[in-house]
Amino acid sequence: MLALVYKNVLQGPERRMTGNVKVTPHGAPSGPELLSRMSGSVCVGSRVLPTRFFLAPLAGYTHLAFRMVLRQLGGLGLATTDLVQATMLVGGSKKSLELVETRPDDRPLSVQIFSGVTSHLAAAAKWLQDHDYEGIDINMGCPMAKINGTGGGARLMCNVDAAATTAARVVEAVRVPVTVKMRLGWDATQCTAPELAAELEKVGVAGITIHGRTRAQGFHGSVDRKGIRDTVSAVSRIPVVANGDIRTVDDAISMFQETGCAAIAIGRGAMLDPWIFRRLAAHASGDHLEANPSADEQIDFLVSHFRLMTEQHGLFSCHLFRKFAAWYGSRLGIPEDLEDRLRRFESYAEFDEIVEQIRRRHGERLCTVATALVKVPNGPVSHW
Ligand SMILES: Cc1cc2nc3c(=O)[nH]c(=O)nc-3n(C[C@H](O)[C@H](O)[C@H](O)COP(=O)(O)O)c2cc1C
Repeated sequence: MLALVYKNVLQGPERRMTGNVKVTPHGAPSGPELLSRMSGSVCVGSRVLPTRFFLAPLAGYTHLAFRMVLRQLGGLGLATTDLVQATMLVGGSKKSLELVETRPDDRPLSVQIFSGVTSHLAAAAKWLQDHDYEGIDINMGCPMAKINGTGGGARLMCNVDAAATTAARVVEAVRVPVTVKMRLGWDATQCTAPELAAELEKVGVAGITIHGRTRAQGFHGSVDRKGIRDTVSAVSRIPVVANGDIRTVDDAISMFQETGCAAIAIGRGAMLDPWIFRRLAAHASGDHLEANPSADEQIDFLVSHFRLMTEQHGLFSCHLFRKFAAWYGSRLGIPEDLEDRLRRFESYAEFDEIVEQIRRRHGERLCTVATALVKVPNGPVSHW
């Protein structure tokens, strides 16, 4: 009874506010208090997002079909498209339009835009609003040289005032909430995230996602949760979404606990375990943690993913699916000859026949967790 009362109190309207928590030196919330912080919806500006577990954009992976197949599993609070170049979008390039393609049940969705030119970002934001998109995310975290070289991505973090002015112009251009995704800063000597977050809040940015690495780290080294916590402490009203290296429910719990974030974003972890959002939602509402999905459920996921891809790309999906063959191969323990066929099939009938064999021969190969299969650039970040 007490537990029920507690849950009702904490899930009242006040719990649905942005929900960052300042982590004090006396310790972070734990137990029921922590659980209550992970549960319920979260407001990002005028948007109410159903859970605090978001999908981080992974260019090349988080396309419409993948977002949809994840949504069907449940638990996902928000998805964001791959980054889209602002002028290419407004100019109607085929690739950009494909990246922002959506459908009514692909919600809640934000579109991520990038550019080093403020007016281009504002024009893209306006274009998105005019085309009924509900959330705009500005990329201030991309480490790639071709994006940083034109002043976009993580380069924006080097000049806090200019970045805040850029964000202000975008916020002024639209009525829909504008968010920013950033890193800790350019390098260890320029961790501008807390200062920038505070300025962004002042100019009306509705929320911040922070990947706990610097641009210089690329994807190496560990995520600095203290850096994320400092960013949480720097803002007073808007939600901070913590990101980086969350692979399991325990990683998620400790991220909430150690940083005081209002929500988390999961990128590569969603590729390793697409069920993670559902697991987290179940955990946050006090339900038992789910067992691993059965082999059939996992194979159904693969089939749905492909079918959703065909709705957007038709027969070309046979080619696009190659990118996922190695991942599905190790994730589902698909025998290597069948994994190889997933890389070469050319028709829907062939796909169906491969799937039938995958079901029949399940268990022949050990399933492994395929971390390395989401490719990140190699070598020093200065060469990316
Ligand atoms: C292949 C790949 C593509 C990515 N594409 C984007 C992107 O388009 N926009 C963005 O803001 N971040 C992008 N990221 C960064 C992720 O959103 C995320 O911040 C980072 O991977 C750390 O989180 P994770 O450990 O949960 O993956 C990408 C990362 C990877 C590995």
